[in-house]
Amino acid sequence: MSIAIFFEGKDSDSWAAALTKRLPDTPIEIHPEITHPEAVQMAACWRPPAHSLEQLPNLQLIQSIGAGINHITNTQQLGNGVRLCRFVDEHLSHDIFEYVLGGILGHLRNLKPPVNKLWKPESYKRLSDISVAILGLGAIGEHIATQLARLGARVKGWSRSKKELEGVATYFGKEGLSEALQGTDILVSVLPLTIETTDLINRDLMAQLNLGAFVINVGRGHHLVDNDLVSLIEEKHLSGALLDVFRKEPLPQDHPFWRMPEVLITPHIAAITDPDRAIDLIVDNWNRLQKREPLKHEVDLKRGY
Ligand code: NDP
Ligand code: OXD
Repeated sequence: MSIAIFFEGKDSDSWAAALTKRLPDTPIEIHPEITHPEAVQMAACWRPPAHSLEQLPNLQLIQSIGAGINHITNTQQLGNGVRLCRFVDEHLSHDIFEYVLGGILGHLRNLKPPVNKLWKPESYKRLSDISVAILGLGAIGEHIATQLARLGARVKGWSRSKKELEGVATYFGKEGLSEALQGTDILVSVLPLTIETTDLINRDLMAQLNLGAFVINVGRGHHLVDNDLVSLIEEKHLSGALLDVFRKEPLPQDHPFWRMPEVLITPHIAAITDPDRAIDLIVDNWNRLQKREPLKHEVDLKRGY
């Protein structure tokens, strides 16, 4: 029985070598050169090509090496009984927190390239002056929310089910969303992509934020309705945005975001999976699968995240 690697844009050979070191008796195969598809029991994936996992008749476990799983479920029809686990890691959560903190501080302190050599002191706000709303209070959102609260920001958080977090005012469900948004200066989305969260950050939602609010999206591109963000910035209801994720990645050259100085763009790097930590999880879940023990970070496929 073997493990297969299905990666886009990652160095599969070095991951395979590291896995072979840890699991010397387990064959490691790399897509697209899989010699024995019938032997593959586990697939480690980042953006596997559409339908590629469907070619593995005895697949039992898919391990996402990202926290999200939509890069798998969007393009594969999972067979009955195939289980899916995701990557959860405190370093990943902390890296996204630091990215969000950087975005917030850059915004509050007006850190941007100079225009026309203009030397013009501007006033600024402190963290303690602002209200931040975090959409998604999971492994990552909870960390962002509690850290920002510790640094003095007023923080609200929104999730699907009820949560209690120190220093954070929490809201849940569709009914709780408007209350979570009220009085918000900075909106941070760190939701998973599901049917319910697709297009959630639209005109209706963003219009409820304070005048001059700033939007940070590190969840998934399909949460945000791009044209609604563009028009709300043009109408000066929003002051700008920091976006790490997009409907299409790389962001197409002709996308209006590229032409907007108010929109800061990063290429899906808010947090990058640390290979050593992901390999620990692959090995752990492989051993658990063999021993029929509960898997780590298994996704509830019905819930969709
Ligand atoms: P979790 O599954 O741990 O948390 C998801 C959170 O979203 C939970 O609080 C959940 O609520 C909430 N949620 C889900 N659906 C809804 C809904 N319909 N309404 C309200 N709240 C909802 O995920 P993670 O924190 O680990 O990761 C979140 C996402 O961040 C990933 O799916 C991925 O898309 C993105 N990500 C982006 C990265 C980047 O580099 N840009 C890196 C890593 C992740 P509840 O608590 O009630 O279940
Ligand atoms: C992830 C991501 O899901 O990088 O981990 O977006």
